Amino acid sequence: MKESTISLNLRKQVDDCRPYIAGETEASVLKKYGLDKVVKLGSNENPFGPYENAKRAMKESLKVINRYPEDDYVELTEVLAKVNNLDVTNVALGSGAGNVIETVARLLIDEGDEVLVAKPTYRLYREVSILMGAVIKNVPVKSDFTYDFEAMKENISDKTKLIWLCNPNNPTGVINDRREIERFIESVGDDVWIVLDEAYADFINEGQRPEIVEFLKNKKLIVIRTFSKFYGMAGARVGYIMAQAPVISAFDTITEPFCVNRTGLFAAKAALLEDQAQAYRVKEFILNERERMSRALNERGFTVIPSSSNFIFAKLPDGFYSAEICEQLMAKGVIIRECDAWDYPEYVRITVGKKEENDFLLSKLDEVI
Ligand SMILES: Cc1ncc(COP(=O)(O)O)c(C=O)c1O
Repeated sequence: MKESTISLNLRKQVDDCRPYIAGETEASVLKKYGLDKVVKLGSNENPFGPYENAKRAMKESLKVINRYPEDDYVELTEVLAKVNNLDVTNVALGSGAGNVIETVARLLIDEGDEVLVAKPTYRLYREVSILMGAVIKNVPVKSDFTYDFEAMKENISDKTKLIWLCNPNNPTGVINDRREIERFIESVGDDVWIVLDEAYADFINEGQRPEIVEFLKNKKLIVIRTFSKFYGMAGARVGYIMAQAPVISAFDTITEPFCVNRTGLFAAKAALLEDQAQAYRVKEFILNERERMSRALNERGFTVIPSSSNFIFAKLPDGFYSAEICEQLMAKGVIIRECDAWDYPEYVRITVGKKEENDFLLSKLDEVI
C-alpha cells in the first residue's frame, strides 16, 4: 500500500515509547528455521499449567461464553479477597498484569509527574508511564542486583508521583530482603505512590516474601498479581490489583468494561480453590530444576545470578554476546531471551521449563559455546 502523506497527529508521547518486545513464539521459529522441534524458554511461562481443575472450569465456561462476564467479576473477586485476607472492595481485576499496569498508570500519572523505575526492570513500567507524560528517573540496581532503596529515596522530589517496584524483579529474578522492602514502603512519604508488581512472588521461598497486606490499609500502595506464571495461565489473561477501596473504585471506573474473559475467570477461581496442591508440587519441581540448571550453567562458564523466580538471569562466558547466542540457539530450536534491550548485552534470561526442555537447551548450548 502506498504510504499516505496525511499527518497522523498521534499523542506526542507515542514517539518516545518503544515497542514491547515479546518473546518469539514457537510457531514463528518453527517456520523461520524450518525446524520440527522448538523449545520455548523465553517468556517466563509455566509449561505445566493450567492445572486440572482450572482446565475443567475452562470447559465449563464455554456453556456461558455467549454472555458477557459479570462486570464486577464478583465470584473471583470474593475468592481473591478471602485468600488475601482482604475485603472485596480491596480487589480489582484486569486482563493480565500487563493490562492492570497500564490502567494503574492511567489512574495515577499526570503529565510532568516524575516516576522512579529500577534499572533493569520490567520494561512496561517505563512505556506506560511515558505514554501518560511522565518523566522517568532510572535508579540502577546495586552490584548484587538488589534494589538501591537509598538511591531511590534520594531521587524522590516534590514532583515524584510513583515508584514502580518488581519483586522478584524481571529480568534478574532477584528479590529484595523482605524487611528492607517493608522499611522502604514505610519510609516513603504520603505524597508518593508505590506500585509493587508481584507477578512472580509465588515462587519466592517460604519466609522471604514481604508481608504487604497490612501496608495496604494506611499507605499509598498498590500490589499487582497475575495468574500467568505460578498458575500457568498466561494465555487466559487474568491479573489483579489490591489496594484501598477508593483506589479500587476509581480503577474499576476507568478500566475497560468486560476486559477479563469468562474462561479466565472460571479457571482462576478453580485454580485458587482446587489446584493449590498441584501448583505447589510444580513449584517445588521448578525450584529444583532451577538449581540444577544454575549448576549446569555455572559448569559451562556462565555467572548465574541467584534467582527467586521461575527464570534465570546469567552472564555469558567471556567473549560471548546475548544477541548472537540467542540467534544461534533459535536456529537450533531453543528460544531464550536476549538482554540487549535492558542494556545487558552479555546476559541471557532463561525460563525454567520441563526437564527435557532444559536438557535440550543444555545440549544446544554445548554446540554454540
Ligand atoms: C514483572 C512482570 N509483570 C507483569 C507481567 C505481565 O504479566 P501478564 O501475563 O499477567 O500480563 C510480566 C510478564 O512477563 C512480568 O514479567
